[in-house]
Amino acid sequence: MDIARRMDFLQTSVFTDLRAEKEEFEKNTRTRVLDFTLGSPDIPPAPSVIQTLCIEARHPGNYRYAVDPLPELIEAIQKWYQTRYRVHLEQDEICLLQGSQEALVNLPLLYCNPHDGILIQDPYYPAYVDAPHIAQADIIYMPLKEENDFLIDFDAIDEESRRKAKMMIVCYPNNPTGATAPDWFIEKLIRFAHDNEILVVYDNAYSDLVFEGEPGQSFLSFPGASEVGVELNSFSKSYGMAGARLGVLCGNKEVIAQYKKLKSNLDYGIFIPVQYAGITALKIGKDIVKKTRETYMARRELIEKEFTAAGWPIHLPAGTMFVWAKIPDEYEDSYTFAKKLLNDTGILVTPGNALGEEGRRYVRLALVVNSFTIRQAAKRLMETRFFLEHQDQNQ
Ligand SMILES: Cc1ncc(COP(=O)(O)O)c(C=O)c1O
Repeated sequence: MDIARRMDFLQTSVFTDLRAEKEEFEKNTRTRVLDFTLGSPDIPPAPSVIQTLCIEARHPGNYRYAVDPLPELIEAIQKWYQTRYRVHLEQDEICLLQGSQEALVNLPLLYCNPHDGILIQDPYYPAYVDAPHIAQADIIYMPLKEENDFLIDFDAIDEESRRKAKMMIVCYPNNPTGATAPDWFIEKLIRFAHDNEILVVYDNAYSDLVFEGEPGQSFLSFPGASEVGVELNSFSKSYGMAGARLGVLCGNKEVIAQYKKLKSNLDYGIFIPVQYAGITALKIGKDIVKKTRETYMARRELIEKEFTAAGWPIHLPAGTMFVWAKIPDEYEDSYTFAKKLLNDTGILVTPGNALGEEGRRYVRLALVVNSFTIRQAAKRLMETRFFLEHQDQNQ
């Protein structure tokens, strides 16, 4: 059976490939791989969130189609945005999602005809490039360079790209670099989008995971933002609900109305017990988020200390649950490095190449492992002298 040509653009996820390498290594060596690849949070939801889900799952009435969201959840989201971000949202500025990924994939379908342009940061979160492929839009990359603090250089975007682009996806705190965006940058982003009539899709999945400077903000808290764009927020990282799919799209009314129209043709809403669990999460949100942030904070400090001592200098980013680490000069690229690291030490990291051309000399480590695993990884680096060997050779 012939599949549609648009499928030619899609490849298996990098994480599927890495999982295969992990299995192969474990089978051959009978050694457990220490896996720093997938950013799937290991911190579970608060007990009261799980309890709400269980209680609501016992009600037979909660198994109907959930086309209309629970009004209590919409109110809770309005209150959350008001208190956490100082953003007033009307009900028609909010759309519930089965995780923010849902809208990342569908928004290009909504706004792009074949060969319209989509501006994407490089390095990127993989869904950013898969979605344009499905929509048959043309990707225009915006390189994120360390010398620019991994911020977009708007002045480097040429006239033709500005004309061609219909939308842009922007993510700060940024996956994978961990960079955060200062106010002047967001203001510039809004001006750029306004002047060039480009829709901004601001991915704010990591706004609660900021470890330096001011707490993470909402794009929508900046003047003019909701005229040019929408924001995606997620219950996955802050509340540990990644598998109980819940996210939100908010901002520009017109985009929200169009998105709801598309969605009404795609699904029947979010499982009602998950919506109730979301209400509980938002109610006790401040405490949960504080605990989650402290857990990642401790892991960050540990990995910096232990890996640096083992010869791999780790520079901590300002936000997210990721470390974007440079590879030694000796390696051709991050694939080669990641393969050798796995073979020699049983430590698995995501090669930056898989997340864009700009990731060639970096690997991403997701801090979704406990402190025991971090210490074990550092011990393996020490015992195999993986980095120390290079240092010895270079002396
Ligand atoms: C930058 C970014 N955006 C969106 C998502 C998807 O999150 P959700 O679980 O809300 O679909 C992720 C998940 O890792 C992510 O890293």
